[in-house]
Order: sequence, then C-alpha cells, then structure tokens
Amino acid sequence: MNGKVHVMDHPLVAHKLTILRDKDTSVKDFREIVSEIGMLITYEATRDLPLTEKEVETPICKTTAPTLKGKKFAVVPILRAGLGLVDGVLRMVPSARVGHIGMFRDEETLEPHVYFCKLPKDVAERDIMVVDPMLATGGSADAAISALKERGCNNIKLMVLVAAPEGIARIQSSHPDVDIFCGVVDKGLNERGYIVPGLGDAGDRIFGTK
Ligand code: URA
Repeated sequence: MNGKVHVMDHPLVAHKLTILRDKDTSVKDFREIVSEIGMLITYEATRDLPLTEKEVETPICKTTAPTLKGKKFAVVPILRAGLGLVDGVLRMVPSARVGHIGMFRDEETLEPHVYFCKLPKDVAERDIMVVDPMLATGGSADAAISALKERGCNNIKLMVLVAAPEGIARIQSSHPDVDIFCGVVDKGLNERGYIVPGLGDAGDRIFGTK
C-alpha cells in the first residue's frame, strides 16, 4: 500500500502559500513564511506522537495530565533549501536533533547522489522528518530517504510545502512506507523541472541568491 499524502486543508496555510507564490515577496518575508508554514505542517505531522500521563500539581489540586512520551525525533533537511524549514520544526519540537543531507545531480544520468550526510549517531532509533520545500521530480527526496534507510532508519516522513504529482508518484513507488505532508499539490512540472504554478526556486528565494 502507498504512503498517505496529507495535504494541509487550512486557510492560514493557503494564505501563506499565496504570499510565497508572489514573485514580489521579499527575501525576509519569504524566509519567515517558509518557517511559519513549516511550523503548521509539523503540527499536523506530529499528530501520532505518543503521550503518557504524569502527575502535576496545579494551583488548585494534584492531578495527572498528558505529556509527550519522549520519542526520539530528528529533522533532516535536504541541502540547501530544506534548511529553510528546520527552524519551524524546531519551534514545535525543540528537543529534535538535526541531520543534514546534501545531494548533487549526475550530469549524465541526471540522478541525484549524496555528497554530504551528517546524522545523529542514534538516527536509526529516531522518528525522522525529511524536509525540503519543493517535491518536484522526487529524485532528491527519493535518494535522501534511501540514504537514511541504508543507515537503519525505518520511521520516516517527508514534509514539503509544494508537491508535484510526479514527485508524489515517485516517492509512493520507491518508498510506500513514507507518508508525505504537504501544503498544496500543484499541477505538475514544466520542461525545466519547475513546479507549475509553484513559487520558483525555493533555495534562491530563501537565501536571496538570485
Ligand atoms: N525546486 C525548486 O526550488 N522549485 C521548483 O519548482 C522545483 C524544484
């Protein structure tokens, strides 16, 4: 069975994505809003975190109340655009560890390869959230998830802001165990591999490199 695609159905996410799509949005606003949407998607993607009860004394009485069980969690941005989402995830899950995966594209095969991979030592014991703003062909996310699985990870989710149907199909075929959390699903890819209507090159817009 394929992994589920969870599309955020929320007016705040829809509104913020429209600001990101606008080519005249400033680098400062773009960066802040990427982080905000990252926070909102993390809220949805962590719905299944296990809870336990603990004793607490309120100003009124003693009681028991839910607290996170402390499941180990790591966020893994795909360099470089994925870095823009890390802050939003950490604001929701401050104890998360951060791993990094960098990818380059083989000019002949056009397939992505890992050139940098620095992960927490106990990564195989952690729930992993791979983050990248754009799921276009799905090549980078596919390779990043494969690299994590080679290192023993078996509980992986993928968070993106904008997904193309092509990218979703690739991840569902290569990694049917991985659920995708996204802000919106767009029409598809153009001949240059950009998502349409999309928001352009997310890395350039986050880092102001264009
Ligand atoms: N990467 C981006 O940053 N934008 C796209 O539209 C596709 C891939």
